Amino acid sequence: MLMHSFKYQNLSIMNKDLINDAKIVLNNNFQEKGYSIPCKGLYPFQWKWDSGFIAIGFAHYDLDKAKQEIETLLNAQWGNGFIPHIVFHVESDTYFPGKDFHLSKLHPLSNKDYPSTGMTQPPVTGFAMEMIYDIAENKKDVKAFIENNIDKVYLNHKYFYENRDPQNEGLVYIYHNWESGTDNSPIWDDIWATMNPPEYEFTRRDTNLVDPSQRPSKREYDHYLHIIEIAKQHNYSDEKIAELSPFLVQDPLFNSMLIKSNESLIALYKIIGNNEDKIEQLQQWQTKSISSFNSKLYDKELGAYVHYDLRNEKPLRFVSSSSFSPLFAGIPTKEQAKTLVDTMMNKFGADDMYLCASFDPESERFNPKKYWRGPVWINLNWMLYFGLLDYGYLEIAERVKSDSIELIEKAGFYEYFDARKSVYETEKGGYGGGNFSWSAALLIDLINN
Ligand code: DGY
Repeated sequence: MLMHSFKYQNLSIMNKDLINDAKIVLNNNFQEKGYSIPCKGLYPFQWKWDSGFIAIGFAHYDLDKAKQEIETLLNAQWGNGFIPHIVFHVESDTYFPGKDFHLSKLHPLSNKDYPSTGMTQPPVTGFAMEMIYDIAENKKDVKAFIENNIDKVYLNHKYFYENRDPQNEGLVYIYHNWESGTDNSPIWDDIWATMNPPEYEFTRRDTNLVDPSQRPSKREYDHYLHIIEIAKQHNYSDEKIAELSPFLVQDPLFNSMLIKSNESLIALYKIIGNNEDKIEQLQQWQTKSISSFNSKLYDKELGAYVHYDLRNEKPLRFVSSSSFSPLFAGIPTKEQAKTLVDTMMNKFGADDMYLCASFDPESERFNPKKYWRGPVWINLNWMLYFGLLDYGYLEIAERVKSDSIELIEKAGFYEYFDARKSVYETEKGGYGGGNFSWSAALLIDLINN
């Protein structure tokens, strides 16, 4: 008994230290203008999905910063409801491609006060707002914040359903790999094989800051830039992009985030009252989205959700950590959830591996060090943890949580982590940017749950 409580006492002291370290990372990355950079050098601006995760971390100890993080992002919203993936709040020479490449001003409704990209990122803001509400002790204060900002998030969802769903399925498309968040996933290799972009001349900045073997290749960047060039030729018109972009994908991670956030907006509108029309609209989107999601993106044979290539009209049949993200949004039936968990444990859950690699470790495309081609990401693990809890897989959820904490303890607050346990005997195991904001923010949230 004594041994037992001693062990737990030590654990909580360790967690306390980790939380303090995480707060230092977050506080150092918070900028005067009211937003956080994901990390120094490599990512010197505000990123859309990062800001949602970061705000959840801040909500545990600095509500003002949590609110500012979201409000600063929403200030950059466009006239059509669109919220960009990067907001270039400052000048910086450590990032390519910057605002002079993206040229968001080409779009007639872009926000001319906030230069940005002309692409978006997974819509996490809705559920981030609900979590901030749940975490915050001062409900009155946070309720006022929700009242002032929720309609902007609603308009962002309206933008998606009205402009990104050409076949009216309730599933929205992304037109660029950077919109997925899983930037260089091996899933996109099949799309790159359909393209032959020019060899652009440009100077990368990321590969001066991070070992190039951990980042996308030059040829991959040619593809990334080419899609943007096509969008720019048409002033970022959604209709033209839907017609012409070589990359047009229904992504299970992106659509799960939208569905999760729809649910949060419904819950928050109920809390603030007087918004029956919006609640009804959200419920309609929700019913249609979930039904199409399960009929179109669920691959019975693989026992997992997969991406759908809308440009080439075919499923992209690969299992990645995105395949399990629908658990977080309550999309699978109980039976589907069981199959998903079995698939995950069979492919990703060996004893000598940390959960959960970002790409199928059994595939020849798996690369344990290269960004989204294999490493573990804390934000995906965090979603997986809550999804598994919701469906009653308590032990596996605990493993995802303790694996995430252990990775950060061993390597530090890195951007991504090697899933192979043996690596940590001789190497650091943490890759990409260091002192990475969402690894810190979500660690705080995980430990507090
Ligand atoms: C990058 O530059 O790699 C970013 O992640 C794009 O969002």
